[in-house]
Amino acid sequence: MNKTKVLVIGACGQIGVELTEALRQKYGRYQVIAADIREKNKAGDHYLYVKLDVTDKSKLLMLCREERITQIYLLAAMLSASGERDPALAWQLNMDGLLNVLDVAEKCEMDKVFWPSSIAVFGLDAPAQHTPQANASIPSTVYGISKASGEYWCHYYFEKYGLDVRSLRFPGLISYKSPPGGGTTDYAVDIFHKALADGRYLCFLKPGTMLPMMYMPDAIRAVLELMDAPAEKLRVRTSYNLSAMSFTPEVLGAEIGKHIGDFKLDYLPDFRQQIADTWPDSIDDYDARVDWAWQSRFGLKEMVRDMLENLTRMTSLSKA
Ligand code: SER
Repeated sequence: MNKTKVLVIGACGQIGVELTEALRQKYGRYQVIAADIREKNKAGDHYLYVKLDVTDKSKLLMLCREERITQIYLLAAMLSASGERDPALAWQLNMDGLLNVLDVAEKCEMDKVFWPSSIAVFGLDAPAQHTPQANASIPSTVYGISKASGEYWCHYYFEKYGLDVRSLRFPGLISYKSPPGGGTTDYAVDIFHKALADGRYLCFLKPGTMLPMMYMPDAIRAVLELMDAPAEKLRVRTSYNLSAMSFTPEVLGAEIGKHIGDFKLDYLPDFRQQIADTWPDSIDDYDARVDWAWQSRFGLKEMVRDMLENLTRMTSLSKA
């Protein structure tokens, strides 16, 4: 059996920074190549680093052949809010990137591929509460359309070529190591930075906007557990619903306020409100729990405490 050799594409992004580190711990420092369109100096302490544009298929194929890559984690994508600013570019990056990876993985006879989908595949036609693991919905954003289409492509490559591609529909992800970029759920990260720096935050979503969210340690563990699950257990080959917590801006603000007494939250909704209004309030992840024993660990209280502790520690380290 070939030794696992991993390529993480989009390694400098919000998920990429933490997933690359987790994969290095799992497979060894030199078994994981970090790739991103950005220059290496933005990539922190990544050991093996390649500057790569995922839409450059010949370079991707060459790299995978030369390095004998056995698993790809494709994280490079344009998120929901940025995607609405440039729909054509979002479609090109999100779809060409995925199709290139699926095709190269199939050509190189790779063991496995991971690709994240999103709650953005669901639109107003889906039930908002405990949205079930269903495929048919009408997404409201180009990002959502690219994720919904991508899920069908993953399913197609699995059925037609036997490519073991696995996927999760991530809710909004909250993390302190690396910022999100261009999403509708980004407020739930920005709010922590502003709360600590200024004691106040101007939220771009209005009170009452309930969205599904997850703390990054849960998200990384979900990827690792899904990728370790026996292939025959996985009945969903589009993308698994995944759930941890749901909250509104005012509920998050109140929880932060328990730690930062005079924290003040104001609201100035913008175009992201229309996107959020079409997304589910909460997600039913029954299939993930049954098929590969998924269980989230962080709720709102634990997440808020951990975020504030870590961001405070990082701020004092950077000042020292
Ligand atoms: N966090 C993403 C976004 O807001 C959703 O997957 O675009």
